[in-house]
Parts: sequence; C-alpha cells; structure tokens
Amino acid sequence: MSKPLKQIHLAAHFPGVNNTTVWSDPAAGSHIEFSSFAHFARTAERAKFDFLFLAEGLRLREQGGTLYDLDVVGRPDTFTVLAALAAVTDRLGLTGTINSTFNEPYEVARQFASLDHLSAGRSAWNVVTSWDAFTGENFRRGGFLPQQERYSRAEEFLATAHELFDSWRGDEILADQATGTFLRDARAGAFVHRGQHFDIHGRFNVPRSPQGRPVIFQAGDSDEGREFAASSADAIFSRYATLKEGQAFYADVKGRLDRYGRRPDQLLILPAATFVLGDSDQEAAELAREVRRQQVSGATAIKHLEFVWNRDLSAYDPEGPLPDVDPVVSEDHISRGRAQVRMYRDPIAIAREWRQLAEANQWSIRDLVINTGNRQTFVGSPATVARTLNDFVQADASDGFILVPHITPGGLDAFADTVVPLLQEQGVFRGDYAGTTLRDHLGLAHPDADTDTGTGSGPAVASERAAS
Ligand SMILES: Cc1cc2nc3c(=O)[nH]c(=O)nc-3n(C[C@H](O)[C@H](O)[C@H](O)COP(=O)(O)O)c2cc1C
Repeated sequence: MSKPLKQIHLAAHFPGVNNTTVWSDPAAGSHIEFSSFAHFARTAERAKFDFLFLAEGLRLREQGGTLYDLDVVGRPDTFTVLAALAAVTDRLGLTGTINSTFNEPYEVARQFASLDHLSAGRSAWNVVTSWDAFTGENFRRGGFLPQQERYSRAEEFLATAHELFDSWRGDEILADQATGTFLRDARAGAFVHRGQHFDIHGRFNVPRSPQGRPVIFQAGDSDEGREFAASSADAIFSRYATLKEGQAFYADVKGRLDRYGRRPDQLLILPAATFVLGDSDQEAAELAREVRRQQVSGATAIKHLEFVWNRDLSAYDPEGPLPDVDPVVSEDHISRGRAQVRMYRDPIAIAREWRQLAEANQWSIRDLVINTGNRQTFVGSPATVARTLNDFVQADASDGFILVPHITPGGLDAFADTVVPLLQEQGVFRGDYAGTTLRDHLGLAHPDADTDTGTGSGPAVASERAAS
C-alpha cells in the first residue's frame, strides 16, 4: 500500500537585505513602502498560502569598516508591518522573526498576543538567537551574552512568554476577552517567573488570544538549535533545500521529537526555497542563469570572497583567477551584522576547495561565486516546478517551503497563477482555507485543545502561576 499523499505547506518570504533580490530589475519595487508588503501578502493569500514570513536584521551590515550597500540597506520594524498586513488580509498567517537575545519576554509576549488578537489568530514568532556584540551595541552592552548562552536564554525566554500567554488561561477567567471587560477572576494575568535570565512578576495585560499562543518557529542550525526546536517549536525555517540534505535534516530533527513526547507531525520542516519559472524548462534554465548573473555582480563576487577570506580583496579582478593568498582566520571578522549561520566554519579548507574547483572549470572569481552560491531551488516550467516541489515533500525532505522570490514585490505572482493551480489539481495543496487561524492552516492543535498538543513550553525553569 502506498502512503497517503502529504499536503504541502507554502509560505511567502518577503525578500530581505541580501542578493537574492534583483533590485536592478525594472520590475523591482520598494522594500520599505507598505504597498510592496500589501501586494506580496495579497498574492500569497490569493494563492491560499499558509503564511507570510519576515526575517529580521537588527543592525545595518558592514564589511571592511563601511556600510554594505550592494544590496538594499535597512528594513522597517516587524510588528508594525505585520499589524498593518493583518488589516489587509483575512486568512494569511503572519510570521515575524524576533530575537530572544536583545528583547524582553513581557514586551515580546504583549506584541505577539496583540498581533494574534488583531489578526484573529494568525500570528507566529520565529525565535532567533543572534547574539553578536556588533548587533548588541544597538541595545545594551555589546557582547552582553556569550554565544554558548544564547539558547539557554532563548529557552527561558520562550518558557516565560508561554507563562505570560497562559496567565489568562482557564475557565475561571471569565473576562470578555474580545472587549477586555468583565474581569471576574482576580488572578487574571498574574505571573511570577524566577529563573537564571529573567526574574519578573506582575500582571500580563493582554487577554488570551485566539490561538492561545502564537505558532513558534525556530531557525538555528546547531545541535542546540535543533534540540530547542524539537522541544519547543511548531516549525523550523531551515536552509536545506536539496533533496539529500533535506532528507538528512528532516530525519535528524523529527528523530529528536520522541524524547520530548512529541509526534513527527507536531514539528513542520520548511526550508527556504527560490524558483525561476519559464514557458519551457529550457527557457527557465536560461532565465535562471541570467538571474544568477544579476544576483552576483563583479562587486558582489569580490565581497562574497572577502567574506570567506576575511581580508580586503578589492584589488582583485572579479573576472580573473582566485587569490593565491590564504584566508585570515581570526575572531575579528571583516563582515559584521550578518546572521551567524552564513559564517564559514573552516575558511582555509573552503579556499582550497574553491581554488581547485575554479581551476578544474576555468572559473573566474565571479563564475565561482555564481556556481557555488545559492542556486535556485526550482527551475522549470510550471509543470516541472509543481512536480519537483511535490516530489521533494513526498520524499520527506520537507513539509513544504518558504518561498523567496527574486523580485519584490511581484515575484510571487506567476507562481500563484501557474504552479499553485497544478498543485491543487494534484490534490496536494488546499483549494481554499479550511480554517481561520494559522494553527488551522498548519494542522497544529490549539494549546487548550488537550494535553497532547506537543507545543511544549521548553525545558523546565523555575516558575509558578501566581496565586491571588
Ligand atoms: C534559514 C535561516 C534563516 C535565519 N534567519 C535569521 C534572521 O532573519 N535573523 C536573525 O537574526 N537570524 C536568523 N537566522 C539565525 C539563527 O536563528 C540563529 O540565530 C543562528 O543561526 C545561531 O544559531 P545556531 O548556532 O543554532 O545556528 C537564520 C538561520 C537560518 C538557518
């Protein structure tokens, strides 16, 4: 007997400040103006996507001591954008990336609970743990949290936020939650949390929201990050979008759930994926090559190489051979303000491998960066892309994708119009929303539904529900 077909989850990643987006294309629009976010969100909702996703960068990136300005620079605040999008959409989930190092649980819990109310149950929080001192300078003492403590703080942060969300839980609290009136239980919102990172008590002032708690995403890739996801997240935003890597990651993370008393369907794996569509596979392949060249200009190629070599390579010709000097291995890095995930762990080995590759293929610096960097995940006609994308999910390499188009804000339109109908015809993607909340779309139980939801509140930390 063959397995029943899995339903695919699809989400739309509003392109961030990196070179995936081709800003030089005449169709490219603003990444700041609300009209771009609204267009993107409406397209995703028209296509019945599960959610829209916003990444986060808390400091302008620098390289070699100056602002990195080859891509777009700057981005507006996540909660403000998502709240505005809640007003122009009805069903689309709204996922915001919010850091657990530089924020405080009370504030973040208020913001997500509020977004959940405003959107009638569509909020999700991607908990990220970037801790670097450069970003930290914007907030408090730069390097206030050592790298090895980022997940201990994240776990306690999330557990504390859950205590706040749950502080209005239970039948005994008879407040009219929609209007905030008729509070009949003096304990509503009361909390006490005493732990290593947070020692707070008081009253949480946002009544329980439609989803109870926002859906929780996680995006770290280390062993600790995976464990954090297995214990506490509903979904992972991963970077493994090739079949083999995807299957390995999927098996690894789903294999960790049992230890936390959770089932495999309680943690969704959703890699970032890019795509290029054409009328034929050949046309799409040509277009994909062209897009890669636009994404990697000569100047971008040099900056990319500097990122690995950790030294100034501005004197090198991007159309010439790779540098014969070795990378500088040092704690001080030429690039600051990028998510740590992109740091290369062994630059000397990478440099050796790249020199060999370049020599074997007669590649220039730019050719090398074009060919070794993020090539598009799905390239082809709509039929080819629908088929390969579905095969990927059915082969347990993911549960769906967070799609990152290369044009803002219209890059999702063709996918919505041509690929989605084919997935719907194959019976692997919804024809319409069956529910109203993001939990409904993702097939996740409401935390109040029973004790078996698996939406854990993370490892135990000292805390208690305050008595009146
Ligand atoms: C696919 C992916 C996307 C990420 N996006 C962001 C982001 O938008 N903002 C951010 O601050 N960190 C982002 N991160 C960084 C991670 O959340 C995490 O902070 C970092 O990888 C350190 O954790 P780790 O050592 O477990 O990987 C991302 C990581 C991955 C794998």
